[in-house]
Amino acid sequence: MSILVTGGAGYIGSHTVVELLAAGYEVVIVDNFSNSSPEVLKRLKTITGQEPTFYEGSILDKDFMTKVFKENQIECVIHFAAFKAVGESVEKPLMYYHNNITGTIALLEVMAEAGVKNIVFSSSATVYGMNNISPLTEDLPTSATNPYGYTKVMMEQILNDVAFADSQWSVTNLRYFNPIGAHESGLIGEAPNGIPNNLMPYITQVAVGKLKELSVFGDDYDTADGTGVRDYIHVVDLAKGHVLAVKDNLETKGAKVYNLGTGTGYSVLDLVKAFEAENGVTIPYVIKPRRAGDIATCYADPSKAKKILGWQAGKNVHDMVRDSWKWQSQNPNGYQE
Ligand code: UFG
Repeated sequence: MSILVTGGAGYIGSHTVVELLAAGYEVVIVDNFSNSSPEVLKRLKTITGQEPTFYEGSILDKDFMTKVFKENQIECVIHFAAFKAVGESVEKPLMYYHNNITGTIALLEVMAEAGVKNIVFSSSATVYGMNNISPLTEDLPTSATNPYGYTKVMMEQILNDVAFADSQWSVTNLRYFNPIGAHESGLIGEAPNGIPNNLMPYITQVAVGKLKELSVFGDDYDTADGTGVRDYIHVVDLAKGHVLAVKDNLETKGAKVYNLGTGTGYSVLDLVKAFEAENGVTIPYVIKPRRAGDIATCYADPSKAKKILGWQAGKNVHDMVRDSWKWQSQNPNGYQE
């Protein structure tokens, strides 16, 4: 029996494949390389000594996906494959709704036809919207401020409705906080297309000399130093959370939701200072106006995942900034030569 990982060549997907293989699972990856590279598969082999079954294609292609389910004994799907850039989603909403929502519906239809009714879904803390107060618990109302966020809210709803309609389904929505860091080997990591939107890849690209300086979006928030506070989590901890979520998913039915965060918030400047101190590099920065749609503070209450999944983050901010830099300094151009 295998775990199918959609988007398994992506940033979180590839780290999750490493942890699944380490835990003894057989893995099948589907990826269309829309935001990743075939090089990831070679690196996965170097890290794990194993070669998971790989299919290149889109989850929107139901004939292709039906073939994947026919050719493998899939017991559970971890569904990462989606677009994830907030700004791009505002510019191209239909592209986001089509890829993320239609793609998920197509996947669920193929799964139902194949009789595979176990799914772990890659959701986000973005579903907590603008109005909830941290620490965020899973029972809070969800909302969104951009098409990307709406796709996460809607995909959670679709999965919950499917589990409600058919009691054979087991659905796990995992709400990630801010994943950073990389595998300790420095062989896999986050490799965004173009100029990064997110803080850590921006910092590492300044550090490696590809970008001149960091723009800090706002220093007048109601936080200790005025800059935005987030719950950064090491991607390897996040990946391990998926392994435990799969186990729980296979042992239960119905819809479940868990936060995957550390429960601790760091400001933009905290992260910059930690990065500089740990790695001995300087990150020049300028203060800019607030970025539209940002909130002051966002961090998890991770106690539910601890209690039910037995999961908690083991790595600290030093590990995160060290491993982010190891990845970027060893791979200044990501997976491109
Ligand atoms: N920031 C900067 N400069 C930058 C980039 C970010 O100052 O160049 C600041 C932001 O204003 C924010 C913090 O760094 O205060 C983190 O920003 P990110 O863009 O790294 O992360 P977000 O918290 O905005 O969003 C991330 C993911 C979303 C996800 C969300 C969940 O990008 O996909 O976390 O909370 F939905």
